[in-house]
Amino acid sequence: MEKKPFYITTPIYYPSDKLHIGHTYCTVATDAMARYKRLTGCEVMFLTGTDEHGQKIEDKAREAGVTPQRFVDNIVQGERGILDLWKLMNISNDRFIRTTDSYHVSAIQKIFKKMYDNGDIYKGTYKGKYCKPCESFWTESQLVDGKCPDCGREVQDAEEEAYFFRLSKYADQVRRLLEDTDFLEPRSRVNEMVNNFIKPGLEDLCVSRTSFTWGIPVDFDPGHVVYVWVDALSNYITALGYDNDQYDDYSKFWPADVHFVGKEIVRFHSIIWPAMLMSLGEPLPKKVFGHGWLLLDGGKMSKSKGNVVDPYILAEMFGVDALRFFLLRTFPFGSDGNFSNEALIQTINVDLANDLGNLLSRTVSMVGKYFGGRLPESQAEDAGKDGELVELISGLRARYEAQMEQYAFQNALAEVFKVIGRANKYIDENAPWVLAKDMEANGPRLARVMYNLLEVLRVSGVLLTPFMPASAQEVLNQIGACEDCRTWDSAGVYGALEKGAAVRRGDNLFPRVDADKALAQLEEAAQAAKRAALPDLEVEPQLEEKVDFDTFCKSDFRAVKVKACENVKKSEKLLKFTLDDGTGTDRQILSGIAKWYKPEELVGKTLMAIVNLPPRKMMGQESCGMLISAVHTEKGEEQLNLLILDDKIPAGAKMC
Ligand code: MSP
Repeated sequence: MEKKPFYITTPIYYPSDKLHIGHTYCTVATDAMARYKRLTGCEVMFLTGTDEHGQKIEDKAREAGVTPQRFVDNIVQGERGILDLWKLMNISNDRFIRTTDSYHVSAIQKIFKKMYDNGDIYKGTYKGKYCKPCESFWTESQLVDGKCPDCGREVQDAEEEAYFFRLSKYADQVRRLLEDTDFLEPRSRVNEMVNNFIKPGLEDLCVSRTSFTWGIPVDFDPGHVVYVWVDALSNYITALGYDNDQYDDYSKFWPADVHFVGKEIVRFHSIIWPAMLMSLGEPLPKKVFGHGWLLLDGGKMSKSKGNVVDPYILAEMFGVDALRFFLLRTFPFGSDGNFSNEALIQTINVDLANDLGNLLSRTVSMVGKYFGGRLPESQAEDAGKDGELVELISGLRARYEAQMEQYAFQNALAEVFKVIGRANKYIDENAPWVLAKDMEANGPRLARVMYNLLEVLRVSGVLLTPFMPASAQEVLNQIGACEDCRTWDSAGVYGALEKGAAVRRGDNLFPRVDADKALAQLEEAAQAAKRAALPDLEVEPQLEEKVDFDTFCKSDFRAVKVKACENVKKSEKLLKFTLDDGTGTDRQILSGIAKWYKPEELVGKTLMAIVNLPPRKMMGQESCGMLISAVHTEKGEEQLNLLILDDKIPAGAKMC
């Protein structure tokens, strides 16, 4: 029988900082859902990745003294980077997209062009607020108390040429989608979207920038780069092969079954993304689920607050499965939840060590002790008193499924742990140690009691697999579950385990955590991290990627003489140069070196420039090329030295 396709995604993460436990939460939830769907027999496509363009990354790379590409490569692929983290957390994604992947880049250019050609993207003027020291544009709504959200300083009115997407055209259609269908969940988020964004009037969206370059160039208008959200949202289709030849899964997996996204980016996914798809004439995803945040002491986790929690430290101390389990057992997925080390330790000790761990170790050791590790085939039929437990086991899968289908991970796990709790009570009620005193009379009954306990462990083991893949398999190994009784089908029935099951005692899967000791250790780790206060991921000085010789030879490096030089109005960084490049026509180059050079000291100097780069607009003025300088860091301060040539070298002399 053909498997039903199921397509699920996480947001693609910014590789600007190390990921923390909040990011891990979202990916673990998606992983649990993907594994659950695979268990139920679907053919799953689970996509995650990284969102690598934009001004923020460009700025961070500059601070680190490397190219943006080198910077993101390090955070994505470097040691303890994003790929390492997902490997550690046992994330089973089928695909990983990076928005710098060349197939994605060219697909975005095609998507942008399609929307331009159909009239939904047009050229206009972006009017916004400008923060001079940060050289950043902001919209009115991004300002905090009317000031720059980054540095808190005064902003001024500014304009730049930009492309716009006719979002306003789709306002009614999007509103109907939100209000009349169950596209967006939880439903509480619908009101927020409609009241805060649609009712006040959806404005057209600025979808290109000229004030920085680290983005996907608009191929029919160089100098403009595509707005990061247009680039990022489209990942969900380019990763399937939309407008590219890298993959061929679009017809099988699109529309997505669900996009899991954090609450702060619901707006992009439930308004802008459907409108973009409407413009492209493509089907809409079936659902967007906006999950809550993990908070720390009631507030946001953030690097600037220094309160981020490192998943590496937690996974190393408590185990990956315990951490995964805690995240989904403790917090209702649709709402915010307060993360604390105390809660983590408590969940491990109560649910895992006490309830599940004890049930497993007691059952396995009793089967060992009373039956030499293998249950006899002849077992007493269920006496009436087993009815309740048997019924609980038989109906567990259906109750769990009902919750999983609503992404209610916490409730699905609560259903499993209700049965585990009941089974522990069942041991006390049946007192196997008393039955074992007279094996001749009670042997078959004792075997049945043990069998029922193994069945609880079997069904629970199967249903816990999406949450704790390695430990749940180990539970199933210890109770001697055969392949056929680890399946989704078998989890729906009582009695799938063969009667003569042989158990095999293994390691203590969930050791009790000594809370005081663990908390002290965590405190120490947090202090050590603060002391170290190093960049998140050290960017090693490395050579840049190789370029082939022919490509390099196309670069037109030449000597240029400075005819005039002045500060650019409203910019603290930029100098404007008028240059003689040997062609007889003046060349204008803007360069962000005002911090190191005064205009007057450069007039008359002979510099080195590359002159065949596409023109760029900065602060509304055209820059045709780039001056060459050497950059290094001294006592934490960036230093820059222009490459100044001997005055006797004529303008236009080529570098070879
Ligand atoms: N790059 C965008 C997403 C583009 S999707 C087309 C982005 N990246 S992010 O790295 O900032 O965030 C990725 C996800 O992590 C978001 O869904 C965000 O809500 C989630 N989380 C970040 N901190 C979180 C918590 N403290 N708790 C839960 N989720 C959190 O946004």
